[in-house]
Amino acid sequence: MQIFHHVKSIREALDAERAKGRRIGFVPTMGNLHAAHIELVKIAQKSCDVVVCSIFVNPLQFGLNEDWDKYPRTFQSDSEKLAAVACDYLFCPDETEIYPNGMAEQTRVVVPTMTDVLCGASRPGHFEGVTTVVSKLFNIVQPHEAVFGIKDFQQLAVIRRMVEDLCMPITIIAGDIIREEDGLAMSSRNGYLTPEERPRVVQLYKSLMWAKAQIEAGVRDFLTVEAQAKSQIEEAGFKVDYFSICNSKTLEPAAHDDLEITLLGAMYTNGARLIDNLSLVRT
Ligand code: PAJ
Repeated sequence: MQIFHHVKSIREALDAERAKGRRIGFVPTMGNLHAAHIELVKIAQKSCDVVVCSIFVNPLQFGLNEDWDKYPRTFQSDSEKLAAVACDYLFCPDETEIYPNGMAEQTRVVVPTMTDVLCGASRPGHFEGVTTVVSKLFNIVQPHEAVFGIKDFQQLAVIRRMVEDLCMPITIIAGDIIREEDGLAMSSRNGYLTPEERPRVVQLYKSLMWAKAQIEAGVRDFLTVEAQAKSQIEEAGFKVDYFSICNSKTLEPAAHDDLEITLLGAMYTNGARLIDNLSLVRT
């Protein structure tokens, strides 16, 4: 695996790959890689000749009181994990390489409306940071395909929308949510969980499963289902950020006759803020 820190050098290497007609797949990450990230690399390898992974803990997508400074930076083990699955290129720029004119002066990419709800409501500016950095990374790597996890359902929807609206010639591929044995969605932030709360945090997933089963059984009073799921999570000792039954495409509250529905939840534990989601398709 070749490792690059600079825009110019990775561009030259990837230009050479493109000149040979190779299909380039891209997996952007913030590092602290776990099995779910590696799964995204494997997905890219299935349809691409060359796979690029990036690691950049993007300050622009973190709020002032968030965990940018304590976000785990584990470059050595990350690069070993990527090399072990034969990822071809690792791009890990520093902040001045990505924001040479400073973050305040950075041109922004904004996807409106669908970024105001759910995670966007509790993390103002977060998605603007994501779409801005992902646009930059897309321009640097110029991939044919990019793979994102369904774990961050809203992020995936926002990126699909950005690619469509800005006519970016990139196919976005979605990777299934990879979970721990008890059902907890894998996340770099799970490392913040205290040993005491770790076995209990699976409540978010359990409540999503319960709510999904309610809908599948024919319950149509979504507001009551949401309220009951929130109570379950609170009774387990966690503060709910949101628990919403949404239209999978628009992320607006689901209508009773919507066929594609996604249930999204976010909650605060002592150590972390966790998100998860489940989708269902009605026929
Ligand atoms: P990060 O949190 O490192 O996630 C990188 C990719 O891994 C994202 O597409 C995310 O959805 C996916 N992922 C993480 N945990 C997953 C799981 N349990 N199952 C499936 N996919 C999972 O998301 C980001 O970084 C950043 O916002 C980024 C897109 C890199 C922009 O900075």
